[in-house]
Amino acid sequence: MTTATAKAFPNIAFIKYWGNRENTLRLPMNGSISMNLDGLYTRTTVSFQNSLPFDELIINGHEIIGTGLNRVSYILDIVRGMVDIHEHAEIVSENNFPAGAGIASSASAFAALALAGSKAAGLDLSEPELSRLARRDLSEPELSRLARRGSGSASRSVPGGFVEWQGGTTNEDSFAYSIALAEHWKLMDCIAIVSASHKKTGSTEGHAIAPTSPLQAARVADTPRRLDLCRNAILNKDFDTFASIVELDSDMMHSVMMTSTPALHYWKPTSLAVMNAVRQWRSEGLPACYTVDAGANVHVICLEAESQIVNKRLREINGVEDVLVARAGGPAKIIVNGD
Ligand code: PMV
Repeated sequence: MTTATAKAFPNIAFIKYWGNRENTLRLPMNGSISMNLDGLYTRTTVSFQNSLPFDELIINGHEIIGTGLNRVSYILDIVRGMVDIHEHAEIVSENNFPAGAGIASSASAFAALALAGSKAAGLDLSEPELSRLARRDLSEPELSRLARRGSGSASRSVPGGFVEWQGGTTNEDSFAYSIALAEHWKLMDCIAIVSASHKKTGSTEGHAIAPTSPLQAARVADTPRRLDLCRNAILNKDFDTFASIVELDSDMMHSVMMTSTPALHYWKPTSLAVMNAVRQWRSEGLPACYTVDAGANVHVICLEAESQIVNKRLREINGVEDVLVARAGGPAKIIVNGD
């Protein structure tokens, strides 16, 4: 096969990844846990063609060159090296949510690219394991590792549901796997859109300056404890423990960001207003908690039963432009009939 289409969901990290032990391989300083976000997606078609003199990338109808194209070509170069093909590719990708605003568009983008690119190159994941092994096809951890090379959090958008990325120390042991299926716990992410504009400092630059914060070492050292608490809270569906550790983890990452050189301040006044409101609601008995990625938008995590009230209350906060709602989503998938 020379053409394939894949669809992947972004994910929201409950225990965040921030800072790399190795930047080129994107080996993280710490493990992380996330949930895929159903309904928001990137759909990408990769088509290897003899006639192309170089890779061509089109995102949401616009041709992309420079760094964006180089990051995509870097992943396809790894794929080309695995199967020894030399054709360049046309890559056509679309997102149904705002890119670059703290909704991890790079996660769904590189998960979809890794899957579509490897499938288009003949690395077939959908076949039984034995025939895959005979043909050197990719397993899920291999696909997760490949996606990680484009964007760390993309490793977590390959498996489905609730996902843990074991940080590892080498290319081989740094990959993500499901810890629970999407159906395990009816959590919802109500994303308060505070700003849909593209963030000024991307996460790649952010990871690179994380070690300049004197707080990063303490954050990293404490991560195994937070991972255990979060993983157990998910497995036991214990919302109270989950809420405290998720908010603590987000605040710890933003403390590192704000104390890096140069300092990164992603929160806007409305972000803080939402966080304060959520804490207040929880103290009054509404099970909801917040987490914020490298952007100003606030992800408010709640149970499905409360998602309508959370959605309504968020829309009443001054400065909240929109609310996107997503439940836990499945793994990255090959699309056969234009799904
Ligand atoms: O995968 P990257 O390089 O876009 O980094 C993601 C960083 C955060 O979204 C802030 C945290 C995370 O673990 O997703």
